[in-house]
Amino acid sequence: MGQPVKTLPTKGSGSLFRKKSVAELIASTQTGRTLRRELSAWDLTMLGIGAIIGTGIFVLTGVGSLTAGPGLILSFVLAGLACAFAAFAYAEFASTVPVSGSAYTYSYATLGEFFAWMIGWDLILEYMLAVSAVSAGWSGYFKSLLAGFGIEIPTALSAAPGALDGQTTYFNLPAFLIVMFLTFLLSIGIKESKRVNNIMVIVKLAVVVLFIAVAFGYVKPANWEPFTPFGFSGVFQAAALVFFAYVGFDAVSSAAEETRNPSKDLPKGILYSLGICTLLYVIMSGLMTGMVHYSSFKGHEDSPVAYALSVTGQDWLVGLISLGAIVGMTTVMLVMLYGQTRIIFAMSRDGLLPKGLSNIHEKYRTPYGTTWLVGLLSGLLGALVPLNELAELVNLGTLAAFIMISVAVIVLRKTRPDLERKFRCPAVPIVPGLAVVFCLFLMSQLPALTWGRFLIWLGIGLLIYFVYSRRNASLNQ
Ligand code: ALA
Repeated sequence: MGQPVKTLPTKGSGSLFRKKSVAELIASTQTGRTLRRELSAWDLTMLGIGAIIGTGIFVLTGVGSLTAGPGLILSFVLAGLACAFAAFAYAEFASTVPVSGSAYTYSYATLGEFFAWMIGWDLILEYMLAVSAVSAGWSGYFKSLLAGFGIEIPTALSAAPGALDGQTTYFNLPAFLIVMFLTFLLSIGIKESKRVNNIMVIVKLAVVVLFIAVAFGYVKPANWEPFTPFGFSGVFQAAALVFFAYVGFDAVSSAAEETRNPSKDLPKGILYSLGICTLLYVIMSGLMTGMVHYSSFKGHEDSPVAYALSVTGQDWLVGLISLGAIVGMTTVMLVMLYGQTRIIFAMSRDGLLPKGLSNIHEKYRTPYGTTWLVGLLSGLLGALVPLNELAELVNLGTLAAFIMISVAVIVLRKTRPDLERKFRCPAVPIVPGLAVVFCLFLMSQLPALTWGRFLIWLGIGLLIYFVYSRRNASLNQ
C-alpha cells in the first residue's frame, strides 16, 4: 500500500476531539479477518456510476424542470460543481487513508472522534434513506413495465401506506423484494456483486447514450425560451433537489479495503465516475427540456425521461428507457447498501457501534449480519414509508458530509504535511473552500421541514454518542 505503518501517539485521549492516527487506522485493517481485495480502478469507476445514475436523472428531472424551466441545465452544472470540488477532497483522503468508512474514517483522523461519529451517523441516514427512496421509485417503474406486458400488481401491495392520495395501500412489496434480493447478493460476496454491478452499469450507460443519440434529432430550440422562467431562485432550488442525482460518488471511497491498489485507484474511481456522470447529466437535461416544453412535464413527474422520448412516437424506445431506469436504480441501491454496510463496519470496529456489527463471515468474507440488518431496515422503510420526498433529506445529509471532508483536507494538510499523498487536491485551501461555499449555498436552498428532520436525526445521534459510543470507543482501551 506504500504507507509507512508506524504507531503514532493519539492526541487528546478522553476528549471529544481524540483522534485515531492515520497509521493506526491503516494498521487496524491488517489485523484479524480481512475483507477480500477484488476491485480495480475500472471496477471502482463502474461502482461510482452504479451509485450515481438513477432516480435523480430518471425521476427528479420532472420536478426539476417544473422548478427551473430549461435552466435545469444550470442547476445540474451548479450541483455538479459543488460535487466536483468536494470530490477532489474525497480523492485526496481516499489516497492518504485507504481504509473502509469513507468520510467517517477521514474525520476520525483529522477532526476527532465526536465529528467522526456525527458524520458517520449522518452517512447512515444518507445511505439508508437513499436506498429506501430509490426502492420506491424502482417499484413504480417496475409496475408500469409489468403493466406493459399485461401483468398488474395490486395497488394495495405496491405502495407504502399513505403514499397515494385517496387509495388504501399497505406495503410496497416490489420495493421490499428488490432490496432483499440485493442484500442477498451483497451478503454472499463482493466478487459476485461486482459482476452483477458491472453488467447493469453497462446496460444503463447504453440506455443513456441511446437517449442522447435519439434526442438530438427532436430538439426544438423554441422550447428553451424563456430559459429561466422562474428566475435564478428556481434554478437554485432545483439544484438543491437534483443534487440527489450526484449522490453516490462518495460511496466509492467506502470500498477502500476491497481495492487492490487503493491509494492510486480510489481517486481515479471517484473522479472518473463523477466526471462521466456530470457530462451525461448536463447533456441529458439540456435535451429533455429542448424536446418538450418544460411545463408539459406536469403530470409526468414519475417518468419524465420516458415522457420526453414519447414525442418521438417510438414505443419501443420508451420501453427501453424504462428498463434502463429500472436497471439504473437497481445498481444505485446495490452500491448504497454496500457503502452503508462498510461504514457501519468501520464504526463498529472502532467501538462506536456494538462490536458484533463488524463480524466477518467465515466463508463469504463479508460483514454478513450487518448486511442483512441494514438490508432489512432499508427494505422495510422503503415498503412502509412514502419516502420519495425524502430525497431532500438525503441531500442535506450528504452536503453536510461534503463540507466536513473539505474542511478535513485543509486540517490534515496543516497537521500532517508529512503524510504520503498519492493524490493531492489542487489549490488547497481554495478548492475545498469553494466546496464548502457551494455546499452551504445548496443547503440554504432546502426547505425548513427537511432541516427540522435532519436536526432530529442529529439529536438522536448525539444521545447515542454520549450514552454508548464515547464509553465503548476502542480509543478508550
Ligand atoms: N444518485 C443516485 C440517484 O440518483 C442516488 O438515484
